[in-house]
Amino acid sequence: MGKILGIAIQNYGTLKNIKMGQLFSDRTGRELDNMVAIIGPNGSGKSSLADAFGFISDCISSDVESACDANNRGGYDQLISQSSNDAIHFEIYYREREKSRPITYELTIAKGKDGRPYVKEERLRQRRPNNKSGRPLSFLHLLDGKGYAFEGVEGGQNDEGTVVEGNKETVELADPRKLGIVTLGAMKQYSRIEKFLTFLKSWYLCYFSPDSARQIQTAAPTQHLNRTGSNLNNVAQYMYRENPTEFRRILDDIQTKISNITKIEPMKLPNGQIVLEFWQDGFNQPFFSQRMSDGTLKLFAYYLLLHERNPRQLVFVEEPENGLYHKHLADLAIEMKRNVGTGSSKQLFVTTHSPFFVNALSPEQVWVFEKDKDGFTVARQASEYDFVKALSEEGASLGDLWYSQYFG
Ligand SMILES: Nc1ncnc2c1ncn2[C@@H]1O[C@H](COP(=O)(O)OP(=O)(O)O)[C@@H](O)[C@H]1O
Ligand SMILES: [Mg+2]
Repeated sequence: MGKILGIAIQNYGTLKNIKMGQLFSDRTGRELDNMVAIIGPNGSGKSSLADAFGFISDCISSDVESACDANNRGGYDQLISQSSNDAIHFEIYYREREKSRPITYELTIAKGKDGRPYVKEERLRQRRPNNKSGRPLSFLHLLDGKGYAFEGVEGGQNDEGTVVEGNKETVELADPRKLGIVTLGAMKQYSRIEKFLTFLKSWYLCYFSPDSARQIQTAAPTQHLNRTGSNLNNVAQYMYRENPTEFRRILDDIQTKISNITKIEPMKLPNGQIVLEFWQDGFNQPFFSQRMSDGTLKLFAYYLLLHERNPRQLVFVEEPENGLYHKHLADLAIEMKRNVGTGSSKQLFVTTHSPFFVNALSPEQVWVFEKDKDGFTVARQASEYDFVKALSEEGASLGDLWYSQYFG
């Protein structure tokens, strides 16, 4: 479980200083919705935001130096906001469950004397129970790899350095490039760190490519779609086996969008490969993924993604409209909204250029990215623009307001 209430990023490429939602250090904003759509002109920083989430994931699965180099980031010097002398900084304000006290995670990545990026500071804080206004206690704090962590589900130290309650352990990390939450989160006794790590590990960035989905796939039922969707058949195979009713429901859903498809079925070949059979009205032989349109594969992938068993808690999708018929987009947005619901189990970030998609959203769900005069990203919620909230409450569709230049 887990949900981001707010995020702040500093010195990450064009994201020199952005804040979205509510933070511990700045409670002025509203908590982020479960559905967050980001719009804005080309180059305004939407993909950079997706990449910042990907960067954090990469820091977890490898180390901060490898993360700076991965996925065409080009290393720390390319990544840091141009002309900035400060370090890369992230602050994530998150809630584990609906009613639980938020936790704030801060991460600073700087360049060391040896010219290589390392973890300069990491901190996790949470307020004590029944202490709504007091300052939160740190239960992990590492500076240059040295510091402390608290075991168990409560406890921590205040800013004056006094242990208020709990079991404090001194910690020193062997590798300055590895995150402390990864090392400590692997140990049962640091249960809060473990939970946070589990949350971060469940993030999923979707860069679905129909061509990847058309690749030959060997049968191996798989729970989760990978970044490009090259295991689409395996995920379908898994759901078909594990949850046939849900699978049937997805097909029924898809049939309302792509009306000539009557059935989609995973089929294992004698050589161990798995293919998807698409049955269409009027034909007595099925078609395989290789012959299906990009849009059909994409819609199928998105619907599978939305109905995963043990879903990833945070999903980031870039420009889902690419390759989709415009009339499917509002439905897709509605399905996405319905799917994430209002609880703390699932959150969806989407970048989009489509007013059709945005039409299904509320002003609180849409963020506008623009560049300021210095060339860095500014993030504003659509509800902050004059008239937009009022007009939307009166029934105007948000995408139409955007298109008519009321905002964005
Ligand atoms: N280190 C950096 N410092 C400042 N700006 C950067 C840095 N690296 C890339 N950029 C800028 O960030 C922008 C990246 O935009 P991007 O996130 O791809 O936008 P979008 O997805 O909204 O089209 C580009 O305009 C690029 O010039
Ligand atoms: Mg982009």
